[in-house]
This record gives sequence, C-alpha cells and structure tokens, in this order.
Amino acid sequence: MNGTDPDPDQELRVSKIRDGTVIDHIAAGQALNVLAILGIDGSGGETVSIGMNVPSDRLGRKDIVKVEGRELSQDEVDVLSLIAPAASINIVRGFEVVEKSRVERPTTVSGVLSCPNANCISTEGEPVDSRFEVLDEGVRCGYCDTIVREDIAELIGV
Ligand code: CTP
Ligand code: ZN
Repeated sequence: MNGTDPDPDQELRVSKIRDGTVIDHIAAGQALNVLAILGIDGSGGETVSIGMNVPSDRLGRKDIVKVEGRELSQDEVDVLSLIAPAASINIVRGFEVVEKSRVERPTTVSGVLSCPNANCISTEGEPVDSRFEVLDEGVRCGYCDTIVREDIAELIGV
C-alpha cells in the first residue's frame, strides 16, 4: 500500500456509498461529536454509517462518517476543524469520489457552539445566535469574551 490505509479490506467495515459525503480521517473518538456539530441525529431520515477506531496508517486509529444522499458544503464541514482538524471530505456521486478536500479553520463559528458562561447574553434566552471567534488555540465568545481552549466538543448545541 502507498501510505494511505493499511489494508483495503479495512474499508469494508463500512460499505461504500453511492451518493453523499464521506468524512474520513476523523480523530478516533470524535465521530459522534462530528454528527452532533453537523446537527445530524438521524431524524432527517438520511442513511448514516459510522466507523469508530478503524485502523489507519496516518492516524493509528480513526473514525469515519458516511452520510448518504447529502453533499455537505465546505462551510458546513469547516466547523469540524475545531474537533477533527485532520478530517478529509469526500463528495461521492455514482460510487466515485468526485471531490476531495480538507477541513479548513473558519475565522468565526455561528449558531453551532453555546457559550459556557451562564451570564452570557447569548445563553440568557435572548434571541441571538451564538458567535465564536476561532483562535489559534480555542475559541472566544463574541458576546462575553469567554475563551474555551479544551473540550470544545462539550459546547456543541443544546
Ligand atoms: N468511499 C465510499 N464510497 C465510495 C467511494 C469512497 O465510502 N463510493 C470512501 C472510501 O471508503 C474512503 C473515502 O471515501 O474512506 C475516500 O475514498 P478514496 O479517495 O477512494 O480513498 P483513499 O484514496 O484511500 O482516500 P485518502 O487518500 O483521502 O485516504
Ligand atoms: Zn459568551
């Protein structure tokens, strides 16, 4: 093999999809956070496959998420860079990968994370979208300036 995954058979743990988005090279343990941050909980009816702790050359172990019938946009997936910086996005049509990209760090993230500060205007029932500035390490609330450096996944949604 050429420096990708060690054994193609490993990929058969999660079958190929016809059309949709494959989020590959997710840090092991982050697959459920990836779905949460994308707001995918199965209620939309889309078929979702998840592989956790799948062997990978590059990462040792990785998680992988496949969402069928939906092409996620770059903006939608860029928020994943906060919890899965090495993730790659593959758009699949007719069983072929037609587009491949990496997640990119956005400068701000709106409406996805909620501020941990109970006194923050964004959490006090005001009809405002949460907004965080993305720092080199962590995120800063645009309303109260609270900085969160670790466990950003715990701020996902409510
Ligand atoms: N994939 C899929 N269904 C398809 C085609 C691809 O689920 N119809 C998945 C593959 O299993 C893989 C990812 O999409 O996890 C990327 O596919 P591909 O580019 O063919 O694999 P690699 O070359 O190994 O990708 P990379 O170089 O990004 O590791
Ligand atoms: Zn705040």
